[in-house]
Amino acid sequence: MPTLTVNGKKVTVGQDAVILDAARAAGVQVPTLCQFDGLEPWGGCRLCVVDMWQQGWDADWFKMVTACNHPVADGMRVVTDSERVVETRRVVLDLLLARCPETPLIQRLAAEHGIAATSYEPNPTPTDCILCGLCTRVCDHIGVSAIASVNRGWGREIAPPFHEAPPDCIGCLACAEVCPTQCIPYSEGAGQRRIWDKDFEMLCDPVTGEAVITKAQAEHFARRSGVPQGYFATSDTSKRRVMAATFAKLKVVG
Ligand code: SF4
Ligand code: SF4
Ligand code: FES
Repeated sequence: MPTLTVNGKKVTVGQDAVILDAARAAGVQVPTLCQFDGLEPWGGCRLCVVDMWQQGWDADWFKMVTACNHPVADGMRVVTDSERVVETRRVVLDLLLARCPETPLIQRLAAEHGIAATSYEPNPTPTDCILCGLCTRVCDHIGVSAIASVNRGWGREIAPPFHEAPPDCIGCLACAEVCPTQCIPYSEGAGQRRIWDKDFEMLCDPVTGEAVITKAQAEHFARRSGVPQGYFATSDTSKRRVMAATFAKLKVVG
């Protein structure tokens, strides 16, 4: 297993680890915006840049890489707070603040890096979307791909095809849940859910009556997993009750 240093602290991590894992193991915080545990890293926001040296290189030659997707190597040295790393993060946040001047997450991160106002021309139509790509990647990950990044420049955004209710969307809310700025709106109520201008019928637990999952989502999961659709419409409360009833019937032996 590779052993490396992060800001001088020695850590040993798994063979498949990336630098971000090593930093976390060392207790060193590296800011991220487009990383989400469980999703393939993308390396798009560039906020997680670090300096890195590895064996065989000149002793003072460091390369700047993104921590979320760069693999570790034995003997590697990682520096997360060098002058050029901090300056690069400042540029990233300065640009994001120009695009999203009213977004609390970006305002906070920018302030933490000493930026009170963007030095670039601000976006004439402020948005909360930082184009981190988490929503489209999670939608791809579940095998739906209902939304995508469209347009260019200030107008770049995440949208369904032709800005119409996406035919493939199953209303699972995964995109809204991973969005770091909570800028994907949805609503729920009266056995219905609405997201991306599309309405979904909710399936309710037959025992508790709780709305659990959209019908489209249950059908999607049942099709892909082979598990009967009814399983997905069972609430956690019902599952706990079934488990408790099963335990109550067990005979204690020995
Ligand atoms: S709610 Fe629709 S767009 Fe969002 S992740 Fe689920 S399927 Fe994709
Ligand atoms: S909508 Fe949210 S998750 Fe999707 S790219 Fe924009 S900020 Fe990221
Ligand atoms: S978190 Fe690493 S590039 Fe975005």
